[in-house]
Amino acid sequence: MIDRTRYLKIHDEAYKRLRQNKQSSWSKVEDVAERVSFYQSALEKFAAKSILILGCGDGETSLALAQAHFEVTGLDISPTAIQWAKEKSAQLDVKLQFIEGNVVTLSLQRSFDAIIDDHCLHCIIGADRALTLGAVFSNLLPGGIFISRTQCGDPPATAPAEFFKTWDPETRCQIYGGIAGRYFGKPESILEEVTRSGLRVVQQRTFLYPEGWEMLEITGLK
Ligand SMILES: C[S@@+](CC[C@H](N)C(=O)[O-])C[C@H]1O[C@@H](n2cnc3c(N)ncnc32)[C@H](O)[C@@H]1O
Repeated sequence: MIDRTRYLKIHDEAYKRLRQNKQSSWSKVEDVAERVSFYQSALEKFAAKSILILGCGDGETSLALAQAHFEVTGLDISPTAIQWAKEKSAQLDVKLQFIEGNVVTLSLQRSFDAIIDDHCLHCIIGADRALTLGAVFSNLLPGGIFISRTQCGDPPATAPAEFFKTWDPETRCQIYGGIAGRYFGKPESILEEVTRSGLRVVQQRTFLYPEGWEMLEITGLK
């Protein structure tokens, strides 16, 4: 198992590059819209109001859910991303806050109706994954829901050659210069991790994301 990673360095440098290159976000507009629609229907189904978003990045998902009248807290390890998210939300009259923090050592002074893994869990490596899911369980109110969209499975054969230079099939991690940056677990083992944290999986499916990458969608109940 690989435990060597640098969550802050990898991601903060990526956000600095995005801002230098005048990009508008980490994610594409259509991808965010599709994800928000899934999150929103799960939140409405379980009557969730207060939401914590893990790996909120530059805030696009958080902003959309806050504008849909959910009470949102976005959390991310990257100060550059959090600053960017705050700038984007500055002019809006919505219930929203952004905080810097590490999902692995998450200890907030409050609990939430829902916690959303917004493409963050696949950045979490090795033993840190159980710590993160344990923190999710602790910070959910009784009856609260965990919603995740996480990469999984084998990379598509059509993935760029550059990807395969970083892919380690043994650990199922993408490794850059000895540092693990992404984990692509088998769907069944990710579901097992979620169940082991104490959550009851009430909905799950795997599907293909653009360019053939496998994605696992999970709703878990405390
Ligand atoms: C794949 S990006 C997704 C960003 C955003 N949710 C989006 O979809 O555009 C993963 C996000 O998780 C954050 N992240 C990675 N490791 C983290 C950690 N240990 N604690 C908190 N955030 C983390 C990164 O900074 C990054 O913003």
